[in-house]
Amino acid sequence: MGRDAQRLAEAAGAARARGAEVETAAVPLTETAALSRCLQEFDAAHPVDLLIANAGVKTGNHGGIEPAVQAERVIAVNLTATIHAVQALLPAMHARRRGRIAIVGSLAAVAPHGDLLSYSATKAGLQAYATALRRSLAGSGVGVTTVIPGFMDTPMTDRQKGPAPMLMPPARAARIVARGLEQ
Ligand SMILES: NC(=O)c1ccc[n+]([C@@H]2O[C@H](COP(=O)([O-])OP(=O)(O)OC[C@H]3O[C@@H](n4cnc5c(N)ncnc54)[C@H](OP(=O)(O)O)[C@@H]3O)[C@@H](O)[C@H]2O)c1
Repeated sequence: MGRDAQRLAEAAGAARARGAEVETAAVPLTETAALSRCLQEFDAAHPVDLLIANAGVKTGNHGGIEPAVQAERVIAVNLTATIHAVQALLPAMHARRRGRIAIVGSLAAVAPHGDLLSYSATKAGLQAYATALRRSLAGSGVGVTTVIPGFMDTPMTDRQKGPAPMLMPPARAARIVARGLEQ
C-alpha cells in the first residue's frame, strides 16, 4: 500500500519479476476509514500473516518552534494511521491465532532529537504502543516486532539537513529487517 500509484506499480513490477504475486492499493494513510476497509477486504481474501507498518513522515523545527498543525500531520501519519492499520487486522489475526505486526520506529524514540520534536514523540509513542501490544498479545499466537532503524539512505534522509552518521543503504537495512522478522 502507498499513495503514489505510479511508484506502487514500479515496486509491484520489480516484485513480480522476482516471482511474487502482488496486489497494490493506493490509499492515503490519513484516510483512516478507507485504510481500515482496504486492509480488512484484503485480509478476507488473503489472510494476512505479516503487517509491516512502515510509512512515516519527518519534519523539523528550529529552537523548539514547531507549528501545531505540522505536529498534527506527523502524529496523524506516524502514530494514528499505524494504530488504525494494526487494529484493522488484529481481530482476524487473533481469531486465527497467528500473524505478526511489525512497526517501524526510529532511534529517535530512544535518542529524541532537538530538531525533531513531534517526529521523536511519535516514534517513542510507537515504541511504547508496540511493547504494550506485545505484552497484551502474549500467548495469543500473534507476535509484535519493533524495527528501530538508524539512518538509512532514503528520500527522508536526503531532505534532512545535518549529519547522518552510519548511513545504511536501504537494501541492506531491508535485509536486516527481513532476517529479524524471519527469526
Ligand atoms: N530514513 C531514515 O534514516 C530512517 C531512520 C529511522 C526510521 N525511519 C523510518 O523508516 C520508515 C520509512 O522511512 P523512509 O526513510 O523510507 O522515508 P521516505 O523515503 O520519506 O518514505 C516514507 C514513505 O511513507 C509514505 N507516506 C508518507 N505519508 C503518507 C501518507 N499520508 N499516506 C501514505 N503513505 C505515506 C511515503 O509515500 P509518498 O512517497 O507518497 O510520500 C513514502 O513511501 C519511516 O517510518 C521512518 O520514520 C527512517
